[in-house]
Amino acid sequence: MRLYTDTLIMTPGPTEVPERIRLAMARRTTNPDLDPGFMDLYRGVVSKLSKLLGASRSSVLVMLGEAMLGLEASIANLVRRGDKVLVVANGVFGEGFADLVRMYGGEPVVLESDWRKSIDPGDVERALERNPEVEVLTLVHCDTPSAILNPLREVAKVARERGVLTIVDAVSSVGGVPVDVDGWGVDVLIGGSQKVLNMPSGLTILTISPGAWERAERVNYKGFYLDIKLWRNVLEEGVFPYTHSDPLVRALDESLNMLFEEGLENVYARHEAARRASWKALEALGLEPYPKTLEDSSPTVTAFLVPEGVSEAELRRRVWEKYGVMIAGSWGKLEGKVLRVGHMGVQASRNYLLLAFTSLARSLQEAGFKVDVGSVVNAIDEGFKS
Ligand SMILES: Cc1ncc(COP(=O)(O)O)c(C=O)c1O
Repeated sequence: MRLYTDTLIMTPGPTEVPERIRLAMARRTTNPDLDPGFMDLYRGVVSKLSKLLGASRSSVLVMLGEAMLGLEASIANLVRRGDKVLVVANGVFGEGFADLVRMYGGEPVVLESDWRKSIDPGDVERALERNPEVEVLTLVHCDTPSAILNPLREVAKVARERGVLTIVDAVSSVGGVPVDVDGWGVDVLIGGSQKVLNMPSGLTILTISPGAWERAERVNYKGFYLDIKLWRNVLEEGVFPYTHSDPLVRALDESLNMLFEEGLENVYARHEAARRASWKALEALGLEPYPKTLEDSSPTVTAFLVPEGVSEAELRRRVWEKYGVMIAGSWGKLEGKVLRVGHMGVQASRNYLLLAFTSLARSLQEAGFKVDVGSVVNAIDEGFKS
């Protein structure tokens, strides 16, 4: 028997979709190909994204398709047969870039490193020195399955100094962690809709630097749906390569309005507080964070090791079925070993995290662990105080 009717999604994307965004999607729809108002909406969204991402010299595209589309499009358009690509692989998505590079005929040079730590920019520098023929580098800003945050600014600097083009998966950091595409010299940055932006999945955000456009012209990818060249003049010509999604673009517009109304500094500080609170809650529960230190971890998600003597799936099911809170397991080599709580966008909230961690605490108690639920409440409050 279920004794509740309300649930809370605390997985690191997709997330809860806030009411304002749901209402934006529910409005009367139009024909995006013919309604000039839709083009105005799209232009407004691009301008807000440019501000969020620090992309004024770079172009901003919003393509229809979930974030994997952006990852694949970036490789398809920028990697030719035989190109060597340095793949920074300290996580599931980091490693995954190597497969995409191979699919498009490139040769990944995989820089393996400790999955529990942010990449050391010095290691990237040395790898580029050892492989001077590398022209492209891939990096994941927040590798969501392990909750690691990589030092994007520093790695982009190392790449830029060597004339290496950077492709960055920022799918689960955009909107929760500062990003400055032009200032840091990031060539291609990929964002998604279903993480910090708290929308349903369905949109890919891409920034393309002037250098990346040049390379795309040279590579001259010949597909259709992934071809970024077809998007180069959308703003000037007012025509999309295919029919866009009116409800999703309205949702993105509302999500960006929410960020700017709160103020980006406040938004980023709230995500930092959510990370602090989550780490303090783990400490109160006697659980071990997966990232080695707080600094290695992302302000948008917390990952921790499943304690000995408990099944990950069983614990997660208990938190969901008994307390109505959905938390996530992990993937690949972390599957069954790591659990995750998202604090992306609206989830980066004292109240939401209280519910997530006290439900986890109760579930651990019921599984026979000695847990002080009150200390978890204090821990969350502490995190949001400092
Ligand atoms: C870092 C990162 N990149 C890319 C993706 C792919 O996003 P999706 O398959 O949901 O479009 C995800 C989704 O979890 C992610 O966390």
